Amino acid sequence: MAGITVDGLVKDFSGKTAVNGVSFEVGEGEFLALVGPSGCGKTTTLRLLVGLEAATSGEIRFGDRVVNDIRPRDRNIGMVFQDYAIFPHLTVFENIGYGLRSRRVPGREIKPRVEEAARTFRIDQLLRRKPRQLSGGQRQRVALARAMVRDASVYLYDEPLSNLDAQLRHQAREDIMTLHREKERPTVYVTHDQSEAMAMGDRIAVMRDGQIQQIGTGAELYERPKSLFVAHFIGTPSINLFDVELRADEDRILAVGEAFSLVLPPRLREAVAGHLGRLVKVGVRPEHLHVPKLAPFEVTADNTLHGLVRVIEPTATGSSVYLSTPDEPGVDFVATFKVRMPASYLDQEVPLAIDLDHLHLFDAETEASLTYGSSHAVS
Ligand SMILES: Nc1ncnc2c1ncn2[C@@H]1O[C@H](COP(=O)(O)OP(=O)(O)OP(=O)(O)O)[C@@H](O)[C@H]1O
Ligand SMILES: [Mg+2]
Repeated sequence: MAGITVDGLVKDFSGKTAVNGVSFEVGEGEFLALVGPSGCGKTTTLRLLVGLEAATSGEIRFGDRVVNDIRPRDRNIGMVFQDYAIFPHLTVFENIGYGLRSRRVPGREIKPRVEEAARTFRIDQLLRRKPRQLSGGQRQRVALARAMVRDASVYLYDEPLSNLDAQLRHQAREDIMTLHREKERPTVYVTHDQSEAMAMGDRIAVMRDGQIQQIGTGAELYERPKSLFVAHFIGTPSINLFDVELRADEDRILAVGEAFSLVLPPRLREAVAGHLGRLVKVGVRPEHLHVPKLAPFEVTADNTLHGLVRVIEPTATGSSVYLSTPDEPGVDFVATFKVRMPASYLDQEVPLAIDLDHLHLFDAETEASLTYGSSHAVS
């Protein structure tokens, strides 16, 4: 068994196209995180892979084998559903062992495997209980253990950690990764949480309205987003966006906004040539705004923005500072610093230096990135 290939997958429900031409590959042993807002088609994509929905068109292959017409139970998939789907009338032990029993694994093999999976997810004290005697987080771990106990050729997870508290979530994440490294099976992991996707995925696919907008490593999506949507979805706090007009001024190109005027670096000249005189959106990640004294580049009026400090939030390693532009109170933005900003800066106007090496520009209408092709290579 090699990887998963999905080719032009479409799923129409009456009047609603939930999955609209999705193609991707998951390598053998690869962990693909699938992220996107509610209703974008993540669960439907997994249900197509597992065979609980029939594709309207498109092909799904596991290795060389087309599985579209293969029954779910013969696809040999370990899946954790969004709503856990554990059986209420079976005990925890029976739930975890269910897939093994239905595959006629001998009872003496089932017991140690169930007990080991239960230990991994710290539910070994609960094996005799029924699901109604468990908390939501415990039920979720039963579902994880049940998927893990099987020797499946593909693993699919649909937001499996959403009901766990922060600490258990972290533990379960590590357990999933440990088991993944042991089994080295192609895995698709759905989550709402882009930081979880960043932490776990070899690559991340960002989905919107039934389509995949971009697939790449976390660093690629973060540093070279193809669209405003991807730029905004990946990274926390989110990328700052400013409306500007692009103007040619002798041999320079200016990005003129309500509150600042930047001189674009020469490498972007070609990328924006077709947009001179037009409105575009400038994107600046919070960590690419610097206190001028600490900026790792030369600070001039051409790369400086002024902001009124509204809120200072301490973080573990520095501060997140929420600002608005002084003359344009509606324009809010955020900067993250590796130093603590003293509270005395509250309500003060401060200059901030923009790292133009990491500037993003987006077409205001199509929201496609203009800078994608001219971004620096991902380190
Ligand atoms: N059986 C169905 N019949 C009709 N419409 C459906 C059906 N299942 C899903 N949909 C619709 O398809 C779209 C995608 O749903 P899906 O459950 O795949 O989204 P999702 O990305 O998993 O969202 P969430 O993050 O909220 O779980 C939604 O608009 C949903 O209402
Ligand atoms: Mg879902």
